Parts: sequence; C-alpha cells; structure tokens
Amino acid sequence: SSVDVADIGLIGLAVMGQNLALNMAEKGFRVSVYNRTSSKTQDTLQRYQQEQSHFFGQLEGFYSIESFVRSLKRPRKVVIMVKAGSPVDSTITSLEKYLEPGDLIIDGGNEWYENTQRRSEALASKGILYMGMGVSGGEEGARHGPSLMPGGPLEAWNLMKDILSKIAAQVDDGPCVTYIGPGGSGNYVKMVHNGIEYADMQLIGEVYDILRNLSSNNTDNDKLYEIFERWNRGDLQSFLIEITSHILKVKDKDTLLIDKVLDQSGSKGTGMWTIQEAAKRGIPVSTISAALDARYLSSFKDLRVVLCNRLQGTGHTERNTVVSSYGWNDREFLASELEKALYAAKICCYAQGMALIQKASYDEEWKLDCGEIARIWKGGCIIRAKFLDRIKEAYKRQPNLRSLLEDEHFIADLNKCQLSLRRVVSGASLLGIPVPALASALSYYDSFRQEILSSSQLIQAQRDYFGAHTYKRLDKEGVFHSKWL
Ligand code: ATR
Repeated sequence: SSVDVADIGLIGLAVMGQNLALNMAEKGFRVSVYNRTSSKTQDTLQRYQQEQSHFFGQLEGFYSIESFVRSLKRPRKVVIMVKAGSPVDSTITSLEKYLEPGDLIIDGGNEWYENTQRRSEALASKGILYMGMGVSGGEEGARHGPSLMPGGPLEAWNLMKDILSKIAAQVDDGPCVTYIGPGGSGNYVKMVHNGIEYADMQLIGEVYDILRNLSSNNTDNDKLYEIFERWNRGDLQSFLIEITSHILKVKDKDTLLIDKVLDQSGSKGTGMWTIQEAAKRGIPVSTISAALDARYLSSFKDLRVVLCNRLQGTGHTERNTVVSSYGWNDREFLASELEKALYAAKICCYAQGMALIQKASYDEEWKLDCGEIARIWKGGCIIRAKFLDRIKEAYKRQPNLRSLLEDEHFIADLNKCQLSLRRVVSGASLLGIPVPALASALSYYDSFRQEILSSSQLIQAQRDYFGAHTYKRLDKEGVFHSKWL
C-alpha cells in the first residue's frame, strides 16, 4: 500500500475520531486512519465511500501501525483520539518506535493537562513533538467544524496550522482555532470550557425548572419552546438555548418527551477536574461547582423519592401569594425576568471560568490570550454564543482585565439585570424550586460588591480566638492577636 503520501494520520475511530477523519478528508487532506479494533476502521471506510463524492481529499484505512506510519509524509503528523489516560500511553508506545525526530503526535482527547506535559517531555528527548488539543463540538462539530484548542510547542502548531484552520468551524472573524500556548494549556482550556459548559447548562436547566413549575396547564407547557426561541434572538443567543427550544417541541404520545426523561445526569470528569484545579489555585468558581454538585445530587434518586413527601416546602396558599406578588402570573413578564437573570448569571459564570484560565496562565507562565480563547469558542463548540463576542471585546478593550466583572460593558449589563436575578433567586427559593447555580452566581456578584466582607472579619476573629492564627487590621499595619474572652 501507499508510502509517504498522506498529509495526516489519525488513530482511534470512535465517534469523535471517525468524524474528525472524515472532516479532514472532506477539506482536501489525504488522511490515513487506524484503530485497534479493525471493525471501526471498516465502518469509517464505509462511511467514507458513502460521503466521499464531495470530498476534496482522500481517506485510506490501515490494519497495522507500521503500515499506517509508513503511509505518512514527513514530518509525520498523527492525531490520536483514543480514551484519555493509559490508552493514550499505550498508543504512544506502539507508535513511537516507527516515528523519527521531527514527527508530531497530537492527542485530541479530553486529557488531564499534566499527562500531556509528562508525555511531551518524554517524547522531546527523542525529538518527537507533542501537542494536547481540546476538541469541542461533539459529533457534529468533529464532522463539520469543531472548536480546536491546541497546546504545545509553537513549532508543532506551525506544522498543524493549515490543517487545523481548514477543519475548524469558521466564524465571522476566522477559524475557531488558535495557538493556545505551551505545555498542557490546550487541554487546560478545554477542561475549563467543559466546566463552563456544565454551569451554562445548569443555569438553563434551573430557568426551565421555574418555567415548568409555573406552567399551570398543558397549553403553557407546549409553548415553552417559544420562550427559548425568543431568547435565541436576543442577548442569550446560543447553541444551548437553541437546542433547548428544539427539545421542548418533541412529543411522546400526548406529552412532551422531556417529561419522560430520567432525571439523573452523569459526568465524565472534566467538570470535576475544573473544580479541583480551581480549589488548588484558590479561584472561586462557585457556579461551576454548583453545576457539578447538581449533577451529583441528581443521582440520589431513591433518596429524593423518599424525602419528597417528608421535607416541607411552600404550601398552596403561600405559593399563590408568591406567584402573584412577583407578577409571575404574567408569562411574558416571567420570561423577561428569567432572561435577564440568566444573562447576569451567565456573566458571573464566565467570569469564574476566565479567572481560572488567567490564574493558571500566570502560574504556569503560559501567556494565554483570553480574548482569542473567547473568539475560538464562538463556533463549533457546545458553548458557542453571541455572548462570547462580548467577552472577546472586553479583553480587546483591556487585555489585563482581572475579572469580566470589571469590564465597563459587563458592569452596565449586570446593573441592568441584577434586580431580575435577585427576584428570580428569591422567588424560586420561596417556591421551593432549587436554583443552586443561579443563587451561586448572585452570591458571587454580591460578594464582589462588598468593600468589607463582614463574614470574613468574623472568620478571622474566630481563627485568632481558637487557634491564635492572628489577624490584620483595617486601620493599622501589623499582625495582631487578642484575648477575645
Ligand atoms: P467509545 O467512544 O465508542 O465509547 P472508547 O471506549 O471511549 O469508545 O474508546 C475510544 C477509542 O479509544 C476507540 O477507538 C478505542 O479503540 P477500540 O475500538 O479498539 O476499542 C480506543 N482505545 C481505548 N482503549 C485503548 C487502548 N488501550 N489502546 C488503544 N486504543 C484504545
């Protein structure tokens, strides 16, 4: 078979890998593919046969790593799309013996960034370049244009730039790919992207819960999608709002299909990593944390079934009083309150995620460009949204922004929406509807509004009381210890 002809190789033909390989072949590249289990290679070739009529490039399947590697032009570029963790190590081991100095491996999985750095160092001693690349957008994105977050040596980026720019999603200001930075920064940014995605989804879920809870009849319920359709024409315009409007149209017999979906949500680890990282670096990401906890909480279904009749909430009369005093009988008004609340919470959620990226960038000396990161999330990925343009603009105005909450445009937006967020959180609480992500966003906002955090004053005093941890004072320099008793 072919030798020295393919532009790029791809190993790992599960959903993401298969679609990414077809995307590359469509955009004009000659692609070699390999998978440990040969049936997936055959599936991929079959799809290629079906779809190839409009492809500018070609795709060839291989059944040994050696012939796969031999098919690649030098310097060889191999994308691996296998399960994160030890499968990546074993794939590298089986691959590296056929590679030469100057060749490049790109791991496109959701890998822990420190693994990428470890592998990168090990391979560097053999002259092999290594990148960790975040790929977002699910199956559709991989096939027709994902958002790509490649990190590693600049030299490696230069080798991949053409291919990645062609296969990425295209938006008004360019392809959704940029050189993220050195080391594991590409994986890191993808990890935080996923954390933000958890929070974004949870916030939408809570707003939906309120709407669903206050739908007094089937007619209201059947029209919920219209609210999301309307929001999708405004500031909340985004993929997640759009798909929600689609979801809320799907019927199963005489009810909505969503009403039959089991209320337990899973997670695969990147959300948890985001929280661990944030805690390690001392960055508050309470809304992302609330979203992760909400997923964990949902898994306690049996306990919820038992407790739902035992723990009290709001009675029927009180409920009516709350609904009318908040003006929530008026569906239009309710929808506009929720729209503003969601928007304000979304700013807080992205402020948290970007702050974590900035802190890691500082600690690791990655020199990440947050404006560019926001730009490449505008297309291809799950969190794509009009809103990301505003983040990009904020960093353009002030590249060293400490927080999105400090940007003058976001300040204006928050000042316009904060009262709605307050009413939604308080109203939902009075109605007994859980809104952990919305509430965390509001508390995040309110905490940053305090010149003096009285709760922290008390904590410092308590720490000094029981542990002689000492405290500092607002009115004079120095370190103090008091006899509080
Ligand atoms: P899916 O996405 O279908 O659930 P997965 O188990 O996450 O699949 O695996 C994704 C890819 O990683 C597959 O291509 C898988 O290869 P197989 O088709 O042979 O299972 C690959 N993979 C997982 N573990 C691997 C390993 N230890 N070595 C090589 N490839 C591996």
